[in-house]
Formats: sequence, C-alpha cells, structure tokens
Amino acid sequence: MIFAQILAGGKGTRMGHVQMPKQFLTLADKPILIHTVEKFVLESRFEAILIVCPPAWLAHTQAIVKRYLHDDRVKVVTGGADRNDTLMHGIAYLQENYDLTDDDVVITHDAVRPFITQRIIADNITAVLNHSAVDTVVPAIDTIVEGEDEAILNIPIREAMYQGQTPQSFNIKTLVKAYDQLTTAQKATLSDSCKICLLAGEDVHLVRGENFNFKITTPYDLKVATALVETRD
Ligand code: CTP
Repeated sequence: MIFAQILAGGKGTRMGHVQMPKQFLTLADKPILIHTVEKFVLESRFEAILIVCPPAWLAHTQAIVKRYLHDDRVKVVTGGADRNDTLMHGIAYLQENYDLTDDDVVITHDAVRPFITQRIIADNITAVLNHSAVDTVVPAIDTIVEGEDEAILNIPIREAMYQGQTPQSFNIKTLVKAYDQLTTAQKATLSDSCKICLLAGEDVHLVRGENFNFKITTPYDLKVATALVETRD
C-alpha cells in the first residue's frame, strides 16, 4: 500500500503574529493546507491521505476538510511536539489501522508547500518502491557556507550541494526500525526525517524538486505564494 502523510502539526512562529498556525491561513481562496492536500487527492494510488495537525486544531482541521475535500481517503489525526514526532504519530496511526507489510510506503509532505506537482509525487512513489527512503531536492543556487559564530568553517563545492524540500518518502518498516535505534538526544535534535534513515545506514535516493515547491515560512513567502496563485488563475 502507498500512503500520503501531510505534516500540518507546526506552529508557524516565523510567520509572526497571526491568528492561527500558517497552514490554516488563507492563500487566495482557501487554506494553504487545502491547496496542498488537493494535489495528493489527484493521485489515485494512495490508499489513505493522512493530515497530521496540532491537537488544539483537530476540530478546525476536520471542519475545513469536510468543507473543501470530498474524498473518503483523507483522514485527520493529531501530531506531536516536533516535526519527527508528528511524522511518527502518523506512522502509529497507519500501524494501528492497516495491516502493514514490509513493502508498504509513505510519501510525507509539508502542509505549507502547496505548489507540489503530480510529477514530484509520482517520482517519489517510483523511487520509494525501489529504495529505503527518498528526499526531494533542488541544486543549491547560492554558495553554501558552513560557519560557526562569525567564522567560516567550510565552503563546499556548490555543484555537490542541494537544498532539501519535501516530499520525503519512506519504506514504513525501515523508517520505524531506524527511528527506534535513535537515542533520546538524537530524536530531540534531528530536524530532518531522511537523516533518521541516513544515520541507520539506509539507502536514501534523491528526486528532483522544483524551485517553486518552496515552504511558506515567512510573511514574504505568503506574499509570493499569493502572487503565484493569482497569476496562475
Ligand atoms: N510540522 C509538524 N509538526 C510539528 C512541527 C512542524 O507537522 N511539530 C510541520 C509544519 O506544519 C510544516 C512542516 O512541518 O508543514 C515544516 O515545518 P516548519 O515550517 O519548519 O515549522 P513550523 O513549526 O510550522 O514553523 P516555525 O518553525 O516558523 O514555527
């Protein structure tokens, strides 16, 4: 089985003082989260599409799902304190509700990347059926500088550098095994889900993203996203 999991459990503090977590803010005519999930609903191979939201926003998420999405595969569950915790809440839901086999996979995506394409979703599905994990990346445009305090430690060759996006896709059994091997300290500091599999020595494959598949993080990003939607329509 192939599952989708939309990570919508964050607070969106970098968006500044807004009345709700950024995934629920309106982008043109509907919440950002809905724009994102609509892209996943178009892919018929998904057995279920989980939306993992903050516990305090469960009723709100259920209400907007009912209003905008008419697909029984969409399920709403509650997330955790950090992004990987939210990811594992979704995985626990899958373990409890489906008879998972060694071949089952999950395509995970940030709720706040509404410009994902069908091509990126399809490439993730193809790749994760052949590899333990998959990361979606774009080549770095700027030179990446590694630093500490005010000193440069390293300037890697730009051609070998990528910027990570989502989806990140996983063989579910492999992800759970890799996550269980992490120490509590590692779990607390790991901000990237593919790194869970990398640390376990698993094969993580790269899929090409798109520059426009950006994460809406700041008010500036929301302005750019609004302009993109309005130009497209
Ligand atoms: N996310 C999540 N659960 C968390 C934290 C983040 O599902 N506990 C999700 C967010 O909802 C978002 C994605 O992970 O779709 C990327 O999160 P990011 O924008 O980096 O973090 P936020 O917590 O949403 O925002 P900020 O860091 O500005 O507070």
